[in-house]
Amino acid sequence: MKKLYYIINGPNINMLGIREPELYGSESYDALIESVKATADRLGVDIVTYQSNHEGDLVDKIQEAYFKGANGIVINPAAYTHTSIALLDAIKSTRLPTVEVHISKVEEREDFRQISYVSLAAEKRITGHGISGYSEALEYLANK
Ligand code: DQA
Repeated sequence: MKKLYYIINGPNINMLGIREPELYGSESYDALIESVKATADRLGVDIVTYQSNHEGDLVDKIQEAYFKGANGIVINPAAYTHTSIALLDAIKSTRLPTVEVHISKVEEREDFRQISYVSLAAEKRITGHGISGYSEALEYLANK
């Protein structure tokens, strides 16, 4: 059976290409999904992709990954990275290998972006690689 990975994106990631292109690039959310799908095909794995602007919906999706027997999670929690104990607890609950992705180089940005709750549960963090960070994360998980 093919391995299954969840690719989860938080608030405003649906605005890629429109929002602050100098930080997040000019490619759209659809382009991001296309590129991760191409990587999944190349690696021979299945993916579920999901984006929500709502914290509880993201918690539900993380739990779904567990109940569907996923092999890992790639997550860009976006602004919830810096605030959400609920997302941290959800990831910890699943015990699934998780890679935290940020399109921008968050460590070089504002002080309020320097806290990441999700980092406490993620086994790897990829920042500042644009949308290719998602494919790198998937490749890391698939090759584990
Ligand atoms: C982000 C960085 C976060 O600080 C920000 O709130 C986002 C996107 C990134 O991908 O670089 O929405 O997660």
